[in-house]
Amino acid sequence: MSYPRISSFKTAGELRAYLTEAGIDLKLDDDLQVGADAPLAQPYRLANGFTIGNRFCVLPMEGWDGTADGRPSELTFRRWRRFGMSGAKLVWGGEAAAVRHDGRANPNQLLVSEKTLPDLAALREGLIAAHPGRTDDLYIGLQLTHSGRYSKPNDKKRGEPRILYHHPFLDRRMGIGPDTPVLTDDEIKRLIDDFIAAAQLAKRAGFAFVDIKHCHGYLGHEFLSAVDRPGLYGGSFENRTRFLREIVAGIRTSAPGLDIGVRVSAFDFIPYRKGAGDVGEPEPFTGKYRFAFGGDGTGLGIDLTEPKKFMDLLASLGIRMVCITASSPYYNPHLTRPATFPPSDGYLPPEEPLSGVARQIKVTADLKRYRPDLMVVGSAYTYLQEWLPNVAQRVVCEGDADFVGLGRMVLPYPEMCADVLAGRPLQTKLICRTFSDCTTGPRSGLVSGCYPLDDYYRQRPEAAQLKEMKRKPG
Ligand SMILES: Cc1cc2nc3c(=O)[nH]c(=O)nc-3n(C[C@H](O)[C@H](O)[C@H](O)COP(=O)(O)O)c2cc1C
Repeated sequence: MSYPRISSFKTAGELRAYLTEAGIDLKLDDDLQVGADAPLAQPYRLANGFTIGNRFCVLPMEGWDGTADGRPSELTFRRWRRFGMSGAKLVWGGEAAAVRHDGRANPNQLLVSEKTLPDLAALREGLIAAHPGRTDDLYIGLQLTHSGRYSKPNDKKRGEPRILYHHPFLDRRMGIGPDTPVLTDDEIKRLIDDFIAAAQLAKRAGFAFVDIKHCHGYLGHEFLSAVDRPGLYGGSFENRTRFLREIVAGIRTSAPGLDIGVRVSAFDFIPYRKGAGDVGEPEPFTGKYRFAFGGDGTGLGIDLTEPKKFMDLLASLGIRMVCITASSPYYNPHLTRPATFPPSDGYLPPEEPLSGVARQIKVTADLKRYRPDLMVVGSAYTYLQEWLPNVAQRVVCEGDADFVGLGRMVLPYPEMCADVLAGRPLQTKLICRTFSDCTTGPRSGLVSGCYPLDDYYRQRPEAAQLKEMKRKPG
């Protein structure tokens, strides 16, 4: 099944007609507004009094390009400078930074430690220096993570999973045997201390907030589906969120004044796999699928009862910022980041990618309407390509999200936000076409970047290696 290229829609009306025909509920504006009154240029006042200068947000994106001891490399600095150049006033986390070595998703992931502190501070400063215009309305956080079952701290090819429970599908896929131990409650307590220590370091490095990552299958997210886990950190909703509550309590005491946000996968499906013709299909399953936070038990549907409870919890903890994303790029890339071309470990789209975009926008809007007091950032807009700004403007006008988060688009085309805000035409040659090389690269042990469109990466030796690998799959 192939779907029309986004670039084939020459007017908003043409795209709208297609959406109607395809039964996809996604709204967009015909024209973009420019100037001080433009919806995307509106400042947003946070509960703590800080005013963020516009409604664009750079989503966290790592490059698998740090040093062995967890410091940024020149590639990392460049990426963060480009985040700054974008003109977006909210920088949600920069990229996942591990709170300790065993939680690194790859041996090149950033690590938050006393040793890396000056470099993390320099990353932030580089971003600010690259930002056009005033910078007192720029809000920059650091995403704190432990990669849980996806930890590969020492070798790009060797997983060293730290799991909370045995998962019926993911264990098998990842070669995790029944004897692999689950983290004990005491080990979790020590990990909570590491998150708190990392938050203190982030504050000293100058970050305005930390994101306690709860998405994409990593450890924080795994807590939310640990329904069978006995003990203090599994089973009831209260237990599954104890990890978050204890981290927040610790940060409030030991890093006062540091703001806290949470990026959460607000829904999840059963893992997908390659089916006939390499098109994605869900793992066959009978009975109730209980391991999807925000799932309805079928493995393929959404029930926001618990995600809403989670929003209530955030509000009760004094957390005012939430970034909504979905599922995991490891087992459901079509939900997390809709794309035309799959990454090397993915599958062809099982649905019109615009449905994936619309699904995240709808869930985000439902959650925003449920808790209008929370500042909500949406994700997964990149697939909209040239129509991203028109959908973004509509979303913000409708109050379906407070911020429009941009991920993949920022890699080749960071200035998209600045161009939209200034009313300049889009630079179509730089628009991300969702080739997924930014994911295939790291899956093949290479640094991540936009190899097809960013000259800097196009000219690197890895570009040729990637081409070769894609020619000879497997
Ligand atoms: C190369 C790459 C690296 C990413 N790294 C992170 C990360 O460190 N933390 C995170 O929460 N999400 C990460 N993401 C997910 C993005 O933040 C975002 O949710 C996703 O790409 C969908 O948004 P988009 O459609 O604008 O790309 C990454 C995505 C890509 C493509």
